[in-house]
Amino acid sequence: MSKLSQKHLLGIKDITEKDINLIFETAENFKEVINRPIKKVPSLRDITIANIFFENSTRTRLSFELAEKRLSADVVNFSASTSSVKKGETLLDTVNNILAMKVDMVVMRHSSPGAPHFLSRHISANIINAGDGTHEHPTQALLDAFSIREKLGGVGGKKVAIIGDILHSRVALSNIFALKKLGAEVMVCGPPTLLPKYINELGVKVELDVKKALQWCDVANVLRIQLERQQIRYFPSLREYSLYYGINKRLLDSLHRQIVIMHPGPINRGVELSSDVADSDHSIILDQVENGVAVRMAVLYLLAGAAG
Ligand code: CP
Repeated sequence: MSKLSQKHLLGIKDITEKDINLIFETAENFKEVINRPIKKVPSLRDITIANIFFENSTRTRLSFELAEKRLSADVVNFSASTSSVKKGETLLDTVNNILAMKVDMVVMRHSSPGAPHFLSRHISANIINAGDGTHEHPTQALLDAFSIREKLGGVGGKKVAIIGDILHSRVALSNIFALKKLGAEVMVCGPPTLLPKYINELGVKVELDVKKALQWCDVANVLRIQLERQQIRYFPSLREYSLYYGINKRLLDSLHRQIVIMHPGPINRGVELSSDVADSDHSIILDQVENGVAVRMAVLYLLAGAAG
């Protein structure tokens, strides 16, 4: 079995183009599996995986759990809000107690950037980062790039605009790393207050005008305004944000060409995307969700091989 170059998947920054292509080839096989009447294979029988979520999630958590079950792994789920974390237990004590129950792999979401990297220095189980604060969300970037590859026949040479709250977005950073490793041209677009100061160091184009970004790109990956991470006001109101950066059908029609619309979810309908765009034939948002299961199956399967 081919292996990834890393024992953990902590971020896209740490993995190679070869790793990404191996994940994609493996995910293609698993996509065929999950569309069969019997969607299960025995690949991870006798492997136990803990999904440890210290932050809310719908897609990532369900997608990992389904991916694990489709691979016949034993699965335990941990939610910080109903755990002894509320009684003051530390992250390391929590994870060591879970591992004492003979867990082989940990999928973790945490609000602190670097939390899975910290754990990787203290425990021997494989760790998959399911989103660490504003830092990285590697499996989201992999499923996004896989979806572009599936829709447009490849990622290299494609023009991808990431539009919205770049400053607080782990999806933006992981997408930039993944798309650039695969040879895409990347642009970020948003209000100046929602672009990080270090953006020019990432080798991306920067555009403040959303119509110009849409005119340039083949794919627009539209991001949510992350109000829960914003301690100060970065723009006057959601209404004003929507007026200047919201993408609606009238704006797409004015381009006179078809572009692909993506969104990692959850969508704030009527803010960054109107419903007539989110639900249109421009949108591959639900394909992204479907591909997420296959891509996560591939990551779990390949990391289990790397552990052997
Ligand atoms: N895309 C994403 O991470 O969604 P969730 O927060 O629902 O997992």
